[in-house]
Amino acid sequence: MMITDAEFSCMLSAQICTEKKTILSVDDILALIGDHCHGVIGQLTEDWGEVLFSALKRAGGTAFSNMAVGYNNVDVDAANRNGIAIGNTPGVLTETTAELAASLSVAAARRIVEADQFMRAGLYDGWLPHLFVGNLLKGQTVGVIGAGRIGSAYARMMIEGFKMNLIYFDLYQSTRLEKFVTAYGQFLKANGEQPVTWKRASSMEEVLREADVISLHPVLDKTTYHLINPERLAMMKKEAVLVNASRGPVIDEVALVEHLRANPMFRVGLDVFEDEPYMKPGLAEMKNAVVVPHIASASKWTREGMATLAALNVLGKIKGYPVWGNPNA
Ligand code: DGY
Repeated sequence: MMITDAEFSCMLSAQICTEKKTILSVDDILALIGDHCHGVIGQLTEDWGEVLFSALKRAGGTAFSNMAVGYNNVDVDAANRNGIAIGNTPGVLTETTAELAASLSVAAARRIVEADQFMRAGLYDGWLPHLFVGNLLKGQTVGVIGAGRIGSAYARMMIEGFKMNLIYFDLYQSTRLEKFVTAYGQFLKANGEQPVTWKRASSMEEVLREADVISLHPVLDKTTYHLINPERLAMMKKEAVLVNASRGPVIDEVALVEHLRANPMFRVGLDVFEDEPYMKPGLAEMKNAVVVPHIASASKWTREGMATLAALNVLGKIKGYPVWGNPNA
């Protein structure tokens, strides 16, 4: 079926959220879909299940794209049942998200936010040998759980930027990452420096036990919910840094607060939270936590890329353009 531009209707919830400065509820979205809507660009804060997909189908819709790479807010089976093609926005946010995870790693390891708050509070009386002593990253081991696009980009930044050794766990072997570390190690050796090393762990627990800085990059599903639980927190080094820029429910946040309280040298850098926009009680008071509001992909270039890709996904289905990011293809 050919759809003319005049007939075409696509709901851009990104634009509506930005204009209204608010997150849309299911009822808001139902009202916006109305009885005529060919496609929707939605957000990770929206719950895209049977209710919304069947409404979109009734309105004549065939396409939906999340403006995010993660799509744990999308019920793929419900989309399939209603004949709605779905898309996401991989690629354009890889480096931006990895940069934020790297920034959180450094901020937590070197206690940057704590020191900034101390300075602003007028507490700085002069240089002291013990003032905000943190961890030197060079020569330490960075642990990556989930070495896909973002996890691999993060590993590369930490290895090249701070000369860290790598241990990673992924169900799939990351040969590109391994080749990169090997070549970089050879480069360092040729320049008379200590080469970096790498290891593919046979279990996630091996990473948790051995790494000094651990960054989580799994997708959120039933198997990764509360992946970091009390037992696994206890396996980590007392002075480890844990970073999460994936999805909040990957960490049991109540257990994390307890662990931070009991282990003041253990530090976290969090971009995501279990019950966004809220933090679990106690987390805000923890000096050993750096917390930011889910901004890992928030660079201008990336947000424009995400919006463009999401639009192309929806138009791709409706108008026959190529669909780029498509988890239910
Ligand atoms: C994503 O794309 O899944 C990110 O969480 C958005 O920042």
